[in-house]
Amino acid sequence: MEPIISPSILSADFCHLGREIDMLNNSEADWIHIDVMDGVFVPNISFGFPVLKHVAKASTKPLDVHLMIVQPEKFIQEVRALGAFLMNVHYEVCPHLHRVIQQIREAGMQPAVTLNPATPVSLVKDILPDVYLVQLMGVNPGFGGQKFIERTVEKVRELRDLISETNSKALIEVDGGVNLHTGDRLIEAGADVLVAGNAVFSANDPQEAIRQLKNL
Ligand code: DX5
Ligand code: ZN
Repeated sequence: MEPIISPSILSADFCHLGREIDMLNNSEADWIHIDVMDGVFVPNISFGFPVLKHVAKASTKPLDVHLMIVQPEKFIQEVRALGAFLMNVHYEVCPHLHRVIQQIREAGMQPAVTLNPATPVSLVKDILPDVYLVQLMGVNPGFGGQKFIERTVEKVRELRDLISETNSKALIEVDGGVNLHTGDRLIEAGADVLVAGNAVFSANDPQEAIRQLKNL
């Protein structure tokens, strides 16, 4: 089956964000990946809701919102107000992950959880029946354009096994360091969704780069 492609606008030209969103609207991208950072959980700050309000208005694609922030439960209503279909929180910042996942679902969005490179996939076993998607980081979160951590491929395989074992329907998304070479192996290992920032926005032809990822 074709992978779901979710280009990350973290690598877009922020001076021409409207143009970049239009380009994605007219591409084979399935979702638009939105990276929110707080300078606390990750050592960088990206953009916040005043900017995202305009992104949401311009986008005709479903929004895949990845929150790299502490206490993400404080922003459920803001994410919902964007019209996002998916709200993704980090495992590492949620001591009460089950509660947060329920709150996201009650707010009418699909709940998802992300694991940092050093977090083992076995830790999500008990939440698998409740999440729409599990995202594995292929880099340490905070910046686009970083080198892919190879171990991620094996983690996708481990997560795929855990999903079958628990009869879960959760999708597997991979974020960070995805390009045609790593993407190919990630799909082979069982990934359903590929996020790509640098591989799309620094390509000469971003729409063609999306098309190639889609055809992996
Ligand atoms: C990393 C972000 C990613 C990032 C991916 O902190 O969560 O979504 O934009 O960027 P690339 O594809 O350039 O590694
Ligand atoms: Zn992301």
